[in-house]
Amino acid sequence: MFSVMPVFAVSDVQFGRLESNVTLACGKSQIRIPIVWRHNGSSELSWHQVTSDGRLALFRVDQSAQGNYSCYDDTGLLLHSVRLRLGHPPGLLSISCQVPNHTHVRCFWRDSVKTFLSAKYNASFRGKGMEWRPCIVDLTNRHCDVQDPAFWQTIHTLGVTETNALGSQTTYIQFRLNELLKPDPPQSVFVQEVEGYPTRLRVSWRNPSSWPVEDAFPLLFQIQYRPQGSIHWSEMMLIFMNI
Ligand SMILES: *[C@@H]1O[C@H](CO)[C@@H](O)[C@H](O)[C@H]1NC(C)=O
Ligand SMILES: *[C@@H]1O[C@H](CO)[C@@H](O)[C@H](O)[C@H]1NC(C)=O
Ligand SMILES: *[C@@H]1O[C@H](CO)[C@@H](O)[C@H](O)[C@H]1NC(C)=O
Ligand SMILES: *[C@@H]1O[C@H](CO)[C@@H](O)[C@H](O)[C@H]1NC(C)=O
Ligand SMILES: *[C@@H]1O[C@H](CO)[C@@H](O)[C@H](O)[C@H]1NC(C)=O
Repeated sequence: MFSVMPVFAVSDVQFGRLESNVTLACGKSQIRIPIVWRHNGSSELSWHQVTSDGRLALFRVDQSAQGNYSCYDDTGLLLHSVRLRLGHPPGLLSISCQVPNHTHVRCFWRDSVKTFLSAKYNASFRGKGMEWRPCIVDLTNRHCDVQDPAFWQTIHTLGVTETNALGSQTTYIQFRLNELLKPDPPQSVFVQEVEGYPTRLRVSWRNPSSWPVEDAFPLLFQIQYRPQGSIHWSEMMLIFMNI
């Protein structure tokens, strides 16, 4: 008897969506019927139909429908083979950004949809009203970096596009760099009595020396004070003007 060994080089890869109906063609040429399909070398196929032109229609595919499909004519001659990979198109990403210092923004993302397929990412970044600039992607660690962001523009937008074999999707987030950058504490903090004014104090301080005044946005300071023995704090917010 003639036996068919499922030993062949699978050249084509076809991608399909999980839970959808997928149709596989038996090559490009006109097919002589009848056609026999095999999956992973076995003639046992899940819920399917072979159409009159020899195509294999698979219904509501799940993960087990992945693998090698091969079609044969009625003499057992291999006509074509195709590898089926299943998954989902990209969904929205969950993105967060860090600003470790004035020259650097790093944004990370996670999938909200498990796609089961490998993906590529590209990202760009801009300050309000400015040109888009690339955010350099590190594919293995799923983050991207921007050097020397324009700090004087307060609202920034980052877009990350995820692309896989089934589609592409861009997620945007907006944030303010100054809310993400944690400065060092103020330096040289002094409190003095004001002579002749028993209810006044003079408070002075300097910017942290790590703060590059020329390049950075002005810091906002918060002062809290209370009389000794009181449980109630008073508070004021100040912008420090460097003289
Ligand atoms: C898949 O095919 C079945 C049978 O033809 C049909 O009832 C169903 O609506 C199809 N599903 C999708 C997602 O197209
Ligand atoms: C599918 O085909 C490839 C290439 O011939 C082979 O390496 C692989 O083992 C096959 N997989 C299955 C599940 O038959
Ligand atoms: C066929 O092989 C693929 C891996 O190549 C596997 O994911 C799938 O579950 C297998 N399905 C069957 C029915 O053997
Ligand atoms: C800013 O932070 C990045 C990432 O942590 C680091 O590589 C870079 O050297 C830092 N630059 C300065 C000026 O501190
Ligand atoms: C990613 O690249 C595609 C193709 O060049 C482009 O259309 C898309 O806008 C880019 N996405 C981002 C967030 O820059």
